[in-house]
Amino acid sequence: MNILILGGGGREHALAWAIRQNPKCDRLIVAPGNAGVANVAECADLNILSRAEVLEFAEGNAIDFVVIGPEAPLAAGVSDALRDAGFLVFGPSQAAAQLEASKAFTKEICDACGAPTAAWARFTDAASARDHVAAQGAPIVVKADGLAAGKGVTVAETVDQAHDAIDAIFDGEFGEMSVVIEEFMAGEEASFFVLCDGADCLPIGTAQDHKRVGDGDTGPNTGGMGAYSPAPILTEALQEQVMARIVRPTVAEMAARGMPFQGVLYAGLMIDKGQARLVEYNVRFGDPECQALMMRLGAQTLDLLLACAEGRLAGAAVNWADDHALTVVMAAQGYPGAHEKGSVINGLDGLSETSFAMTFHAGTASKDGQVIATGGRVLACTGRGATLAEAHERAYAQVDALDWPEGFCRRDIGWRAL
Ligand code: AMP
Ligand code: GLY
Repeated sequence: MNILILGGGGREHALAWAIRQNPKCDRLIVAPGNAGVANVAECADLNILSRAEVLEFAEGNAIDFVVIGPEAPLAAGVSDALRDAGFLVFGPSQAAAQLEASKAFTKEICDACGAPTAAWARFTDAASARDHVAAQGAPIVVKADGLAAGKGVTVAETVDQAHDAIDAIFDGEFGEMSVVIEEFMAGEEASFFVLCDGADCLPIGTAQDHKRVGDGDTGPNTGGMGAYSPAPILTEALQEQVMARIVRPTVAEMAARGMPFQGVLYAGLMIDKGQARLVEYNVRFGDPECQALMMRLGAQTLDLLLACAEGRLAGAAVNWADDHALTVVMAAQGYPGAHEKGSVINGLDGLSETSFAMTFHAGTASKDGQVIATGGRVLACTGRGATLAEAHERAYAQVDALDWPEGFCRRDIGWRAL
């Protein structure tokens, strides 16, 4: 089968690495891919936000299955264009992708299906939002309503901070926006990944991410500096609770509204005193959580994604090994702020590439026979083992074997569970 993966980050390298191992995969193309992806697949230069361009490429290359990695093409309706033309696609419709693209939409779905989440209110002008915050007090959470690449959320510790965040949103920092004000939820965060085929659901793993840039969870928020799977806090019992109270009701509500969710539902959860509440949904795999999940799932990933896309999840199961995976993101100095592009990464050739140790590329390109950094998050050094400690050791062994002075990483990925 000919498979096209859309995206060019560490998540898509990990997906390509896992899918490539499955004998059903004949030809594998990743658009746009990166220097690491080029070792396991063909890379194609394609505007993945253009429905017409993706459709034409899929038709021209006899593609049998399209896997959409990032949220932007989903929010742009690329999956709808492909499905309408008869392609088999992994990834939700534009309508169902509102679960990530719109905070207010998700809150309405939660209210309609009774899924536990923070109390909330939505405002379209600054004055009423400010009044609401003054009445509620701090801590309180202010969210720009719309896709803001994770940067539209302020967890305000004071009313003044919340007012500043509201003003910034209505000053047009994120374009035409409304604001969602939420109750602050205390607890520990964890992520839960569930395949959904519109009707049935299949959990495919738990993870914990590290969003702050610095050791000890300090500094500004990032797209994620590392992750590990499984997340011990999400016990079997808690997973069953989340499926029963949050995920299945959401999937049923979406189906009832005529926008069935098909793809991976990534539930960001807050866990406190044995109870889980929803923080947010994403409609795609997490990056770098996907790198840890793919290490654990391996070649069966393709069968699972196909079962999802073909509506066969009721009969599908995951073959679990009793294993752990951990991934450490190496970023360019300065990230998440301004950072240099083009520095040369040495030491990659000496790394072993096995089902226990893989360095996935997130932001790299080949230039004059060398691998150069092209993004903020550049590599994801990933280890797997019988214990989290073993996975941790294998991940950091890759970090330490690299020669890239312009890069940095957190040294404490996994601290909560280790
Ligand atoms: P979101 O983009 O909605 O996931 O928010 C980004 C981060 O802000 C989350 O991962 C949480 O750490 C934090 N956050 C969001 N909403 C809340 C909330 N209601 N209570 C506490 N923390 C929150
Ligand atoms: N690592 C967080 C995300 O992918 O949204």
